[in-house]
Amino acid sequence: MTSEGDGNNLIDVRDLEVRFGGRRGEAPVRAVNGVSFALPAGECVGLVGESGCGKSTLANALMGLVPYQAGEIRVEGQDLSSRLSDGRGAYARFVQMVFQDPLGALNPRMRIGPAIAEVLRVHRLAKNDAEAAAMVPRLLDRVGLASRLASRYPHEISGGQRQRVCIARALAVEPSVLIADEPVSALDVSVQVQILNLLKELQQDLGLTILFISHDLATVQYMCESVLVMYLGHVVERGPVSALFGAPAHPYTESLLSAVPDVTRVGASSGGRASRIVLKGEPPSPREHPPGCTFHPRCPRAQPQCARDVPVEMVLADSHCSQCHFAEQAAAWAASR
Ligand SMILES: Nc1ncnc2c1ncn2[C@@H]1O[C@H](COP(=O)(O)OP(=O)(O)OP(=O)(O)O)[C@@H](O)[C@H]1O
Ligand code: SF4
Ligand SMILES: [Mg+2]
Repeated sequence: MTSEGDGNNLIDVRDLEVRFGGRRGEAPVRAVNGVSFALPAGECVGLVGESGCGKSTLANALMGLVPYQAGEIRVEGQDLSSRLSDGRGAYARFVQMVFQDPLGALNPRMRIGPAIAEVLRVHRLAKNDAEAAAMVPRLLDRVGLASRLASRYPHEISGGQRQRVCIARALAVEPSVLIADEPVSALDVSVQVQILNLLKELQQDLGLTILFISHDLATVQYMCESVLVMYLGHVVERGPVSALFGAPAHPYTESLLSAVPDVTRVGASSGGRASRIVLKGEPPSPREHPPGCTFHPRCPRAQPQCARDVPVEMVLADSHCSQCHFAEQAAAWAASR
C-alpha cells in the first residue's frame, strides 16, 4: 500500500471529516472522522467495517456527492473541489460507482441496451443514438453478457446479470477508478464469485483502480491487495492484506477476523479454530463518540489508559498501521488465542 502524497496515487485522502446535521444545538453525526488513506493506481483497496461505520459516506465524499467539513481529498494531485469545477461529467468519467442493489440502480422501464447507450450519450462518447447502440454489444461482451440481452428489461434478467449491466454502465465511460459499494451483498453466493472474478479480471485487463467496500472479510482477502478497517468513522487499521490478515494489530480487526475462522492465521497456526470474539454491546452512536479510544467500551483488550487517551496511528511495517495504544502487542495477543 502506497502512502498518502505518493505520485502513484490516483486519490489521496487526508484527515477527512464528514458530519451530518448538528443544527439547533443537537450533536452532529460524525460519520467520517479523521480518515487518511491512499488509492494507488491499479490496486484494489478493501474497506471493511460494521454497518453504520461510515463506509458509504466516505465513498460518497470521494464521488463528490456529499460535502466534507474538514480535511482534503486530492484527485491525481488536484483538490477535489477544483477538479469538480471542471464539471461533474468530467469527474464522473474519472470515477464511477457500483452499488449493492442492481435492481434499484436501473430504470425498470428502460431496456438493457438503451440503459447502457444512455451513458454513452450523456457523456458524449457517441455522436448519436445509432453510434451509442452500436457500442453496446462490446460493453455487454466485456462483462460476460450476450448481446441478445440488450432487448430485455431489468426484471427479465437475473440479479447477477443485472449487476453485470451496472458494471457495463460504469465501464462505458472508461473510468480510472471504480468504487464498488457492497457489489455482491445482494446476490446469491454462487453468483457472488462470478461477479468478484469479473471485477478482478477488469482490474487486471483494464488497469482499473478499485475501492472495494464490504463487510465480508473473506471477500476482501480474495479481492484486495490492501485493506482499511473502519470503526465509528475512523480507519483503525490499514495495511497489506497479507499483513493484516496474518497479524492483526488492532483488537477490532482481531474480532472481525475471529468471525471468519478459515481466514485467520490464528486458527490455522494453532491447528484448530480460534474462538470467535463476540463484542460487547452495539457500536456507540456516531453523534456521541466515546472519549479516548472510541472502541474502548467494547474492546476485550481495553486498559485504563484507553478510556482517557486517543491513540495515535502507529506504523508497524510495510505501511501496516494501527490506531491502538497496544498495536505492537496486539499481534501477539491475536497469535496467543
Ligand atoms: N444523509 C445522512 N444524514 C444523516 N445521517 C446520515 C446520512 N447518511 C449517513 N448517515 C449516518 O452516518 C453514519 C454512517 O453511515 P454509512 O451509510 O456511511 O455507513 P455504512 O458503513 O455504509 O453502513 P452499511 O454497512 O449499513 O452500508 C450512520 O450513522 C448513518 O445513519
Ligand atoms: S487503544 Fe485500548 S481500547 Fe482501543 S483498541 Fe487498543 S486496547 Fe482496545
Ligand atoms: Mg453502506
